Amino acid sequence: MSRDLVREHSVSVNDLIFPLFVVRGENVKIAVESMPDIYQMSIDNILRECDELLELGINSVILFAIPAHKDAMGSEALQKDSLISRTIQQIKSHYPSLFIVTDLCFCEYTDHGHCGILDEKTTIDNDKSLEILNKQALVHAHAGADMIAPSGMLDGVIASLRNCLDGAGYKHIPIMSYSTKFASAYYGPFRDIAESSPSHGDRKTYQMDYANGNEALSESVEDMRQGADILMVKPALAYLDVVASIKQTTKMPLAVYNVSGEYAMVKLASKHNLLDYEKIVMENMIAFKRAGADIIITYHAKDVAKFLHSTTS
Ligand code: PBG
Ligand code: ZN
Repeated sequence: MSRDLVREHSVSVNDLIFPLFVVRGENVKIAVESMPDIYQMSIDNILRECDELLELGINSVILFAIPAHKDAMGSEALQKDSLISRTIQQIKSHYPSLFIVTDLCFCEYTDHGHCGILDEKTTIDNDKSLEILNKQALVHAHAGADMIAPSGMLDGVIASLRNCLDGAGYKHIPIMSYSTKFASAYYGPFRDIAESSPSHGDRKTYQMDYANGNEALSESVEDMRQGADILMVKPALAYLDVVASIKQTTKMPLAVYNVSGEYAMVKLASKHNLLDYEKIVMENMIAFKRAGADIIITYHAKDVAKFLHSTTS
């Protein structure tokens, strides 16, 4: 019997979301040492990249902007003509069919690198942070974002955002919640590319302890109750048990974020000929699907698309 006939899972370009990092300037393309083949790009190069993505059949991106100016309040995130707004508008005017997700958080915008504003005790002020996240979401929605993805895991953020978006006429914009996000060393390379390392302390007060599987499930269930349209587990590879339990319990659309450290390990090992890049990447992608993921956010997306095209043609 053909193995293909009884194969239980497959991956398709429709499952993939590719992360893009935008910086100010013209014709900028800066390599990131810890993430081979991933670049910070100015808007003109981001547009070229979008063209290539669509050629490859990848129809979704998640956008991160690296602001020129950071302060305690992350004020650049709230400007109407901010880098991210201009990027969204430019992509939408050139490539209207490309689905744009925006990462909604303050850690890229604050000089202290935490995911919201801090109170005097240098912990996150939850209520004040929810308020500015709502404003940030409206900036993204107004610019034309198709989906908002809050990544800071603040208490009550999904209900607060849903309420705000609905009230402003954006009922149709879905929310993909970073609903189960672990405090993880796998984000190391991302913090280089997004220039978002906390200057002091860590994110343990609002990211989860990787020792806790039940709590991981209840965090996602809570975001579903608050109205999230898509749930997420981040990182992916070391957390497939969590992916499976969230999928079985919630039956919700579920994303995994195959994060920077996971990408760097595979990419660098294969650059040293220690493993077969194509085989490892496809094995990981299928493992995400088998565990229950519907959507895979991955820096490998372009490579996956190329591998898929070469096996089907
Ligand atoms: C926060 C955010 C992070 C990542 C995605 N969104 C960094 C963090 O939580 O510290 C990590 C993604 C990766 O490692 O690839 N805006
Ligand atoms: Zn953050």
